[in-house]
Amino acid sequence: MLKTLLLGMSRTPAVQKAVVTFPPTRRVVDRFVAGETLDDCLRITRALVDQGLLATVDFLGEDTTTATQADRVTDTYVELLEALAAEGLTDEVEVSIKLSALGSLLTGGYELALDNARVICAAAERLGTTVTVDAEDHTSTDATLRTVNTLREQYPWVGAVLQSMLYRTTADCGRHTQPGNRVRLCKGAYAGPSEVAHRATSAVERNYRRCATILLQGEGRPLFATHDDAMIEHALAEVRRLGRAADSFEVQMLLGVRSDEQRRLARLGHTVRVYVPFGTDWYAYFMRRLAERPANVGFLLRALFERPRSKQTQSGF
Ligand code: FDA
Repeated sequence: MLKTLLLGMSRTPAVQKAVVTFPPTRRVVDRFVAGETLDDCLRITRALVDQGLLATVDFLGEDTTTATQADRVTDTYVELLEALAAEGLTDEVEVSIKLSALGSLLTGGYELALDNARVICAAAERLGTTVTVDAEDHTSTDATLRTVNTLREQYPWVGAVLQSMLYRTTADCGRHTQPGNRVRLCKGAYAGPSEVAHRATSAVERNYRRCATILLQGEGRPLFATHDDAMIEHALAEVRRLGRAADSFEVQMLLGVRSDEQRRLARLGHTVRVYVPFGTDWYAYFMRRLAERPANVGFLLRALFERPRSKQTQSGF
């Protein structure tokens, strides 16, 4: 109920204004977002790499309403990739893109977003890293996967994201098991109607396990994006049962969520990649993080009454 309300609020401009200008918000946002500038992003990313973690960077922005704005997002990604290369980070750090930020929701947006994604992929190829295409609302799944398939004709390393909340995902997993297919499996952060999506948590998790097994039985590179111990344990047990090499899959988590567990898994020898969002357009991303764990709303309210602390103190959240 609260989850649905928060996801609805993530698309309501009046609420956006209230949340963004609410003073304690900023301190809770800092737990999930690397900062607003490229320098902030590079600093946080470098710190993660120094701790033995990999990263995938997302330049925040899904409210692209003009082609010029989509071009600006594209240029920022190219600038980001060049900065990562200049810092010597492209072996450890890739980027995640949202097609809505690249213009997919505009009239004729499919082609526009595809062209912009091609520009970003060309830069990633030139600089020696990869790109993963985030999954968004269920209405965009077909177009997003079509875009991934088109990009893969030229850039076979492009990553897809599949959401276990959707009924279709079991079949989609079966279509993404070719050698080299990078597939991030997540539960799904967007609300979906019962015609297309599992509503019960238990069903989403059952499907996650089923999909994880399908991906591990294939020849691609599964990327398990979850903070849920039960999902991770299932994936690791299947890795052992199927005799998969330790470096043939990744565990992925979000910046600011279970940071200790990220480091613990990396110390055990697993490849752990952290999703690092940055930019000024953090509102919708932030609201989805609140929706995933309504207890985070409590952190926001508590921040009202606490004295400010340093960002470092908060990073274990
Ligand atoms: P679940 O929500 O059950 O969380 C398990 C435990 O993790 C919780 O009990 C809590 O301890 C902790 N936790 C989880 N979320 C938290 C939060 N926000 N704050 C604090 N603690 C939290 N979705 C999507 O639709 N499209 C996409 O492209 C992506 N991409 C993506 C990349 C990466 C690297 C990750 C980790 C996740 C995504 N997601 C996503 C989000 C994903 O779909 C899902 O909403 C979240 O990962 C939460 O689901 P969990 O599997 O972690 O389980």
